[in-house]
Amino acid sequence: MRFLFLGDLVGRPGRDAVKKHLPDLRRELGLDAVVANGENAAAGFGITKKICEEMFESGVDLITGGNHSWDQREALAFIDDEPRLLRPHNYPAGTPGRGVGVVDAGRGRKLLVINMMARLYMDPLDDPFATMKAVLSSVRLGATANAILLDFHGEASSEKMAMGHYVDGKVSLCVGTHTHVPTADTMILPGGTAYQTDAGMCGDYDSVIGMDKQAPLARFTRKLPTEKLQVAKGEGTLCGVFVETDDKTGLALKAFPLRKGGRLQATQPQLV
Ligand code: FE2
Repeated sequence: MRFLFLGDLVGRPGRDAVKKHLPDLRRELGLDAVVANGENAAAGFGITKKICEEMFESGVDLITGGNHSWDQREALAFIDDEPRLLRPHNYPAGTPGRGVGVVDAGRGRKLLVINMMARLYMDPLDDPFATMKAVLSSVRLGATANAILLDFHGEASSEKMAMGHYVDGKVSLCVGTHTHVPTADTMILPGGTAYQTDAGMCGDYDSVIGMDKQAPLARFTRKLPTEKLQVAKGEGTLCGVFVETDDKTGLALKAFPLRKGGRLQATQPQLV
C-alpha cells in the first residue's frame, strides 16, 4: 500500500497547497490513501465542516486533529457524524468524536489511522503510551488492518521518538505533528515501522510556524499583547511523509519525506 501523510494544514495557504498538488501526486505516486492533520486549517485555529468537505474533494481521505481540534466550536457538533475526522484518542472518555478511523485503500485493503496527543508541554491528557497499548491490544498489523498510521501530535521530539520505538513493528508509520517544522529523520525503525519526528506544516514558511511574522515578533521582543495571530498569506509548501508498505505484514518498505511548492526545498519520493 502506498499512502501519504500531510502535516498540519495552516489556513488557506495550506489548503491551497493541498488543492494544487494533491490530485497530481495521487496519480504520480499511485497513492492508495491520503491522511492530513487539519487542526489549524481554519485560519490557523480548528476546522469547519466546509473545510473538511473541501479537503475530501481535493483527495484527502481522512483528517486528524490535536490541541486545536475544538477551536471552531462547530467541530464539537459535527464530529460525531463525520467518521473521516478524528481527534486525539486520549481525550477523556465522553469527549465527542473518535480517535481511530479506517480508510478504504482499495482492493479490499484497510488503512487504520490512530490519532494520539503527547503530554510534554501539552495539555495533560490520558497517558498516550498506555492508550496506544490498549488500542493495539485489539488490533494486529497485517491482520486487522493492512496498514496502520499513527499521528502523534506533540511538542517534544523526545516523547515522539519514544513513541516511535514503543510502537515499532506494530504500526506502519509513526509520524509526529504540531511543531510545524519538518524533521530530517525519516527512517524505517529496526522493527519495520516508518518514522519521522515531525511531518512539518502545509503552509507558508515565510512566517512564524505559519502565522504572519509581525505579531509573534512583537510578543517575543517586547512582551506586549498583540492583535490576534493571522495566518501568513504567501504560497504554502506541501509537506508530508510518503510510505509504501507490504500488504501482508503492514511493515514499511519505503519511507520518504515529501515537500513541494512554496519556500522549502522540494523533495520527492524515489520510487525506482
Ligand atoms: Fe497542534
